[in-house]
Amino acid sequence: MSIGIVKEAYSVWERRCCFTPRQVERIVRTLGIEVVVQPSGKRVFADAEYVRAGATLSDDLSGCNAIFGVKQVPQANLIPDKTYLFFSHTIKGQPENEALLASVLEKRVRLIDYEVISQNGVAGAPRLVAFGEYAGKAGMIDTLRGLGQQLLYQGLSTPFLSIGSAYMYPSYKEATRAVRMAGDAFAAQHRQQSTPSRFQPLVFLFTGSGNVNKGARQVFNLLPHAMIEPSELMQRGAADDFAGLPSVVGCQAGIQDMVARIDGEPTPTFDKRHYYAQPEHYHSVFFEHLARHCNVLVNGVYWDSRFPRVVSKSDIAKFPDHRMHFIADISCDVRGGVELLERANTVEEPFGPCEANDKISIMGVDILPSELPREASQHFGDYLLPFVPQLAHNTATSDLAKELQGACIADKGSLRERFTYIGDLYRELGRPGHAVHSGGKATEDTAAQIAGSTVLRMHGHLFDSGLINRMLDVVEAQLPHGRFQIVECMVGANRKSTVLLQVTMDGGRPQLDQVLTKIFQLAADPAFASSEATVKELPHSFCDGNFAATLRDTYREVSEEEDGEEEEDGGEESGLLTGPPRGSRHLVRKDSASFLDQADVSVTSLIAPSLQKVAVLGAGMVAKPCVEYLSRDSSRHVSVVSGDFNEAKALCRRVGRTNIEPVHIDALQHHDELESLVRGCDAVVSLLPATMHASVAKMCVAAKVPLVTASYVSPELQALSEAATEAGVPILCEMGLDPGMDHMSAMAVIDQIHESGGKVHSFTSVCGGLTAPEAANNPFGYKFSWSPRGVLTAMQNSARFSRNGELVEIESKDLLASAEPFRMYNLPSLALEQLPNRDALKYVDKYRIPEAQTCFRGTLRYEGFSAKMLEFVRAGFLREDLTFGEALGAFQAQATQEAKVAMEFLLAGSHDAELDGRPAVDQLCDLLQTRLALREGERDMTVMQHNFNGDEHVSTLLAYGTKSDTAMASTVGLTVAIGADLLLDPTTAVSQSSGVLLPTSKMIYQPGLKRLAAEGIIFTNHSR
Ligand SMILES: NC(=O)c1ccc[n+]([C@@H]2O[C@H](COP(=O)([O-])OP(=O)(O)OC[C@H]3O[C@@H](n4cnc5c(N)ncnc54)[C@H](O)[C@@H]3O)[C@@H](O)[C@H]2O)c1
Repeated sequence: MSIGIVKEAYSVWERRCCFTPRQVERIVRTLGIEVVVQPSGKRVFADAEYVRAGATLSDDLSGCNAIFGVKQVPQANLIPDKTYLFFSHTIKGQPENEALLASVLEKRVRLIDYEVISQNGVAGAPRLVAFGEYAGKAGMIDTLRGLGQQLLYQGLSTPFLSIGSAYMYPSYKEATRAVRMAGDAFAAQHRQQSTPSRFQPLVFLFTGSGNVNKGARQVFNLLPHAMIEPSELMQRGAADDFAGLPSVVGCQAGIQDMVARIDGEPTPTFDKRHYYAQPEHYHSVFFEHLARHCNVLVNGVYWDSRFPRVVSKSDIAKFPDHRMHFIADISCDVRGGVELLERANTVEEPFGPCEANDKISIMGVDILPSELPREASQHFGDYLLPFVPQLAHNTATSDLAKELQGACIADKGSLRERFTYIGDLYRELGRPGHAVHSGGKATEDTAAQIAGSTVLRMHGHLFDSGLINRMLDVVEAQLPHGRFQIVECMVGANRKSTVLLQVTMDGGRPQLDQVLTKIFQLAADPAFASSEATVKELPHSFCDGNFAATLRDTYREVSEEEDGEEEEDGGEESGLLTGPPRGSRHLVRKDSASFLDQADVSVTSLIAPSLQKVAVLGAGMVAKPCVEYLSRDSSRHVSVVSGDFNEAKALCRRVGRTNIEPVHIDALQHHDELESLVRGCDAVVSLLPATMHASVAKMCVAAKVPLVTASYVSPELQALSEAATEAGVPILCEMGLDPGMDHMSAMAVIDQIHESGGKVHSFTSVCGGLTAPEAANNPFGYKFSWSPRGVLTAMQNSARFSRNGELVEIESKDLLASAEPFRMYNLPSLALEQLPNRDALKYVDKYRIPEAQTCFRGTLRYEGFSAKMLEFVRAGFLREDLTFGEALGAFQAQATQEAKVAMEFLLAGSHDAELDGRPAVDQLCDLLQTRLALREGERDMTVMQHNFNGDEHVSTLLAYGTKSDTAMASTVGLTVAIGADLLLDPTTAVSQSSGVLLPTSKMIYQPGLKRLAAEGIIFTNHSR
């Protein structure tokens, strides 16, 4: 009779354990149950402490009946037929954990999920194992640390500077000591020296009334302070009179202090129920009345898109004289209640400057409880201890405590009844086009089906309350005459979810009404009151009554290969079927403006589930960071389009968010499908091969949809500029690394020099996507983190540049021979060479430097690369009209020993017969791609340097790849995504521009570089 404790594998910061050594001691000594602990070096409690408590250390848990973890246990580690308890994050159909659940079922694991352990096991009752309070505590400690830094930047040194992040203290108690001491010292400082009036007093404003707020207020209470009412803050703030208050003041705002009715009707007694039911009748007055008068805002409210924001970007712009300089968004809802939170920060760097206003620092970390691992572990164990004996005895599920029964997701290879909907969700969401759940076949009477079809918008705690399951049961009971399809499903951890559900009854509207009545009754059933669910039928105009767009999937016989191949093409031709392309899961959506006419439906509630739609075309080497960046905003839907569907699916799996969808379209062959997809988007990013951008741009101009590319503007694309201007569509090109970041960083310095009255007589700029030195371990000193064909093509360009007033022209055949040694500023140990890069003289105009006597742009490689490649070119390896065998013959006859060594390296393990017959360049590309690929664990790096007037000003960038992304992918993918983000933000100047645009203009490079810096991609500037 024993239980096991796993070694956490999920996140580097997951140092919690579900039992402390003390609790283990009780289990062993008092309950007489053996405990086996997998050794772990990062757990907050040492292995030795568990041994002293009586546990056995072993990696082998196969002898344990019940096994406890905190976060997802890797599927490979699951032992068949065991009971496991952990946060599986599957109850909302999270795609990243689909394989884990499949493994649970396959291995007949009994899975009990902490997320659904509720009082008495009642669906929707308060959760028992929850960590909001720890998030509040850790968040408030981190906030005080950030506040200290922010005050320093504003010229005030305070004792808050000595406070660290919560995780830096051995325990919460130690952290509270530090907070208390700093608070006392600040009060003393306040008494002794006069502080600038904007910090006198420091006003902390709190929102929310749940566990997060409770935790944050507990830490705040450690500071000597006075609490004031919101009405007092409003009055004092308006009069700018805070006299007579201590150094720190707190104020707790309630909902009634934050919103007012839009129609101006006074609300002497604020009706919370009315507000929650019809938030569209309210707007936020929070910033104007209260938040602009506080120094620190600590946000702990639940928010979703139906409600007015807590703080919006326009608030900050409207009241520039606000006192606020720190926002702690403990709710950490990216671009949510606090619109200014652009991304979740890391535990290591929990706060940073706010993009909308750099006088404000903002903190938002989504794994705060793991910063207090000791106390959070204690909390786990306190709840779990009573259940240990029955789990250790392997009690049958029907005899387990109600709390465990209610949280048991899977048992004996099946999902338990309450959770069968998870299987439906995975089947639905994982399928291109969301092929219909019930597998209905085409019927003749399409018109009747459309009449009997509608879409419901459901919002609330749909999953953990079990409500969605019951609603789907209602429809399923109508099989084979009725069916449902999930059109959209937005879920968020610990938040309410939104589901758009299409319900179809073959019999038409009368039958549909019967089913809808049952669904509405369920939503109103007091048994599901805790779900706080709202269900609305969307108006027919939501998709122009054309439900065929989603019904269509019912006509296609789904035949998915076992290996997950895409569907057969059948059923596409039905003349009746119009609408979005295969793979799209959207109904034809009317312009949002037209919904304003719908008196009974709020615009935000209707379109919020997927406010913006973006298509990323291409899922190749640089696409992942782009998709990751664009999908951080959960209200945005990102389609990842590729001619290779498996590649798109793999990318979506790697990013692992629910608002991303793989779509299979061959851009060259399925023109109509692509056009239709583009039409439904708010922006398109083309990461297709550069030759395809022009045709995509044509579609975008016709559909009036902004486009971003990371490639040079081709003549065909430039020719579209006028049409794009006429259509009012921005086409932002050259938004990658080179071209892209090079333009932005160069122009930032050039404009600065000009603005201070200077001239740029000489400008040189070089860039290289290279292998990090430790991985440059082949005769080429080069490995590919992007397509070899691009590198080979670039080697055949001609080049032009000026040097001291003289024009230098290099023919393509001489390019490689013109390579010159290059050393980086402050990093001379890197032996590099530079090759002229195309026509640098174009940049005299583009960069607005007519005074430049020298204008050079170059590509960087490790020294020796060009000499070897020159021999390859001379032998004909870049030609299509020679076979590889012919080129090899010529090469062997004339090559130097060094080049031969390089060729031997490429050919190692290949058989001549396989190689000989193919066009030389194709075969060379394949060899380069396979033999010079970055291997697991190896890094690439991107290097860039601009020199202005010699060494007078030097701007450098050195970025290394990480485990998850190459430096090339990050620099290109993030830049192009930032371009799209700027176009999608109606408040930016670039979104209001049109025609073909480059990031050489300030309206692009200024916010662009700022956002790149926030991603850790930072240029270093040196000036003499
Ligand atoms: N500015 C820079 O610094 C920079 C650097 C690298 C790449 N780029 C540009 O970024 C883009 C993507 O580069 P990459 O390295 O990811 O390229 P890649 O070759 O790895 O990816 C191209 C993608 O397009 C898809 N594709 C190709 N033909 C298709 C078709 N007919 N229909 C649908 N999909 C098709 C491929 O399957 C792949 O997903 C290119 O346009 C390239 O010019 C810019």
